[in-house]
Amino acid sequence: MTSYEKIFENNRQWIAQKTGSNRDFFAQLAKEQNPDYLYIGCSDSRVTAEELMGLGPGEVFVHRNVANLVNNVDLNVMAVLNYAIRHLKVKHIIVCGHYNCGGVKAAMNPQDLGILNPWLRNIRDVYRFHKAELNAITDVHKRYDRLVELNVYEQCTNIIKTAALQLSYAAEGYPEVHGWVFDIRTGQIIDLEIDFKQILKDIKDIYNITAN
Ligand code: CO
Repeated sequence: MTSYEKIFENNRQWIAQKTGSNRDFFAQLAKEQNPDYLYIGCSDSRVTAEELMGLGPGEVFVHRNVANLVNNVDLNVMAVLNYAIRHLKVKHIIVCGHYNCGGVKAAMNPQDLGILNPWLRNIRDVYRFHKAELNAITDVHKRYDRLVELNVYEQCTNIIKTAALQLSYAAEGYPEVHGWVFDIRTGQIIDLEIDFKQILKDIKDIYNITAN
């Protein structure tokens, strides 16, 4: 475990490393941000954002919460989405779930978790939407993995429902939404290859904001 004091030593070494290869690194960093990516992931300490993608400061706008949820009435994630789409004009939005997600596991088990009840109920709703598929999976571990994937799919759909996404995509042709799972057992990013354009087309029957 890294001690509290060691973190500041790490920080000094990091500054030396960054300015060693580029003397103006922090002067440039301080000017502005212009990231191409918005990453929405789980708060889990094992699932980093920048590190697993090999990206550095300034390259990705990040939002993390328990079980990478994009709740329609969560002002926090909606503010992040709006800012990233309308102001930063990101080109790609990634929802990244991960296998062995404690939040998804908790949602699969009947227990009272206090304030986490309404939060994790969003995952139970995902289970309900896909109940037939999930209940047909007899291996409980495989069912848990599949719920992680379906949760990502539904959170991507929640992003596609928003006015910010629909208006930007109609006017600019971006951002596109991607669903990933981080396989914590191997370190691999798995692109679920969700059909962004098809989801956008399908949900417009009900969630169209742009009148086109
Ligand atoms: Co998690």
